[in-house]
Amino acid sequence: MRLVLVGPPGAGKGTQAQFIASHLSIPKISTGDIFRANVSGGTELGKLAKEYMDRGDLVPDEVTVAMVRDRLSEKDAQDGFLLDGFPRNVPQAEILKKMLAEFGTGLDLVLELVVDDEEVVRRLAGRRTCRSCGKVWHVDFDPPAVPGVCDVCGGELFQRDDDREETIRHRLEVYQEQTEPLISFYTDEGILVGVDATGPVEEVTQRAMAALRRFA
Ligand code: AP5
Ligand code: ZN
Repeated sequence: MRLVLVGPPGAGKGTQAQFIASHLSIPKISTGDIFRANVSGGTELGKLAKEYMDRGDLVPDEVTVAMVRDRLSEKDAQDGFLLDGFPRNVPQAEILKKMLAEFGTGLDLVLELVVDDEEVVRRLAGRRTCRSCGKVWHVDFDPPAVPGVCDVCGGELFQRDDDREETIRHRLEVYQEQTEPLISFYTDEGILVGVDATGPVEEVTQRAMAALRRFA
């Protein structure tokens, strides 16, 4: 199955992508994670992306698209994938459509995680990530047993640079201006399904899986 997860920053795309991809045995491809891995690794791509990410702006399309094309060409993505964080604007969606047509395929479904701005700010302000294994926690909604320490691997938890309050607000503006038009784009394509992303993580996963069974 070829899926896209779309939704505002902090909607829980990364959290849900992990469960959905594992249920469906398909790779989860997160452009945000790939950029962050490049930033940590100090690569040229990472240096370029960091400047945009720290401001909460989108990394230029040509850079992002080339990276996604490489990733989708890998063997494990040939029979299906779950894209988290891509496409992020209509030009990226159009390029993705052409790219998949070249591979002789297309998207099956786009899941929109629906959650309001207040909840987004609460989720992002409390998000903490493990420096060693990458697991994402939340200080209130999914806290580790010992504050600041990952239960899975004992690693140190940190707050993402783009989760500062003023950057969160800017990311929300960027979402509304550049990413929200994708909702009409994919509605017109007949493959958009909205999923209520409020409530416990497991309930959201169940709603997403039910939507997949109904529509895909
Ligand atoms: P990216 O990493 O994609 O950031 P984002 O879209 O802003 O999404 P987030 O990762 O912030 O949130 P999420 O929806 O994954 O939520 P999460 O599951 O962590 O992109 C970062 C940057 O990279 C961009 O700003 C841009 O610069 C660049 N970039 C990436 N893709 C690009 C592209 N295609 N084009 C150009 N630039 C691009 O959950 C958030 C918190 O809430 C966690 O703490 C979690 O534990 C908690 N939580 C999750 N679900 C629930 C729940 N149901 N109840 C309570 N808490 C919950
Ligand atoms: Zn860890």
